[in-house]
Amino acid sequence: MSNDNTDKGLLGWVDERFPLTKLWEEHISKYYAPKNFNFWYFFGSLNLLVLILQIVTGIFLTMHYKPDGAQAFISVEHIMRDVDWGWLIRYLHSTGASAFFVVVYLHMFRGLMYGSYQKPRELIWVFGMFIFLALMAEAFMGYLLPWGQMSFWGAQVIISLFGAIPIIGDDLTLWIRGDFVISDATLNRFFALHVIAVPLVLIMLVVMHIIALHEVGSNNPEGIEIKKHKDVNGVPLDGIPFHPYYTVKDIVGVVSFLILFCGVVFFMPEMGGYFLEHANFIPANPFKTPEHIAPVWYFTPFYAILRAVPHKLSGVLAMFGAIAVLFVLPWLDRGKVHSIRYRANSFKWLLAMLVISFIGLGYLGALPPTELRTFFARVFSLGYFGFFLGIWWISKNEKTKPVPERIL
Ligand code: HEM
Repeated sequence: MSNDNTDKGLLGWVDERFPLTKLWEEHISKYYAPKNFNFWYFFGSLNLLVLILQIVTGIFLTMHYKPDGAQAFISVEHIMRDVDWGWLIRYLHSTGASAFFVVVYLHMFRGLMYGSYQKPRELIWVFGMFIFLALMAEAFMGYLLPWGQMSFWGAQVIISLFGAIPIIGDDLTLWIRGDFVISDATLNRFFALHVIAVPLVLIMLVVMHIIALHEVGSNNPEGIEIKKHKDVNGVPLDGIPFHPYYTVKDIVGVVSFLILFCGVVFFMPEMGGYFLEHANFIPANPFKTPEHIAPVWYFTPFYAILRAVPHKLSGVLAMFGAIAVLFVLPWLDRGKVHSIRYRANSFKWLLAMLVISFIGLGYLGALPPTELRTFFARVFSLGYFGFFLGIWWISKNEKTKPVPERIL
C-alpha cells in the first residue's frame, strides 16, 4: 500500500492520508452544475469573497483596536491616521459590511425568483436564513465597536427593544448589556462575540450551506432538475463541471465586483452617511441623545416595520416576524414550478410588491417619522407580509406554464 503512490509525488502521498483529490473532485472538478447559470448566480461566490475579506481585514483591525470604553473611539482614529494603511483596512472592513448585505440581499432575491428554496432545497434556504441572522448579529455588534454616538445610541434603541418582552424583558436587557446602561462591559462582550464567536458560527453555517447544496445539486434559472437526465456514467446531461467552467465565470463576477467595491472604498467610503453615519464621527456620549437615531441602511427595512406598529411589543413582534416568515417560506409556497419564468403572473406581481415594499421600507426607516411616512410604512409593511400570504394563497392552484424537460 505505502509504495502504490511513490510515483504520484506529493499529491499521491497526501491523498493516501487525506482525501484531498476526492474532495476537490466531489465539490469542484466533478461537481456538475446546470449549464445555464446567469448573472444571478455570481452572488454565492461573492458572498464567500466578502466573508473572507471581512475576516482578513478584521484580524488586522483587531491588532490595533482597543475594546475599552475610554480608548475605543480614539483607537479607531489612531487606525485611520497613524497606522500604516490603517485607513484602507478600516474602509475595506466598513464598506465590506455594507457590501455583504448588498450581495446577500441579491443572493436571496435570486432564490425567490427561481424557487431555490423549494423542495428539495429547503435546508439550503434554512441554513441561509441562519446565516442571515448571524450576519445581522455580527453587523449590529460590530457597529458598537467604534464607540461613536450612533454606535452607542443605535445599540441603546435596539437592546431596549428586548425590554418590551413581558416578565423577562428588564432582566433580559440587563443581561445583554452586562450593566444598567450600555457601558464598557457591553463593549467588551460585543467585541468578543463580534471577533470570534459569531464568525465561527458563520463559517460553520456556510460549510453546512454548501454541503447541503452539493448534496441535492444547484437549481438554475429554468428551475429544471438536471439530475433527471443523466448519461451512462451518471453525469447530468445538462450539467457542466464547476471547474473550469464556473470558476472562470466567477472570476468575471469577482473582478466586476472588486471594481465597484474599490470605487466605493477609495472615493466614497462613507457613502453620504449610509455606510458610515455622520454622528459616528463624534465620540459616544451617554448624556446627549442625537437628534435622529437611525440604524445602518441594511437594517432600515426592519426598523421601519418596527416603527410602523403603534404598540411597542407588537412592533417588536412584527419586526422579528418579518424575518421569521422567511424561514418558513419553503412551506408557505405550495407551488410545483420553481422558476419565475414558468410561474403565474400573480407570482410576478407578488414578487414586485415585495421588492417595492422592501425598498420603500428601507427608505422610510432611514428618515425621522412623520404622519405621512408612518402611513406609507404601514402600507409597505402590509405589502411585505402580503407577499407571504399571497404566495401561500396563489400557489395552491397556480396556473403555471409548461416547464421544458431539458435545458436548451
Ligand atoms: C455568508 C453568506 C452566504 C454564503 C457565503 C453563501 C454561499 C452560497 C454559494 C457559494 C452558493 C452556490 C452558488 C450560487 O448558487 O450562487 C449558494 C447557493 C444558495 N444560497 Fe447561499 N450563501 C450565503 C447566504 C445565503 C442566504 C442568506 C440565503 C437565503 C436565506 C441563501 C440561500 C441560498 C440558496 C437557496 C442557494 C441555492 C441556489 C440555487 O441553487 O439556485 N444563501 N450560497
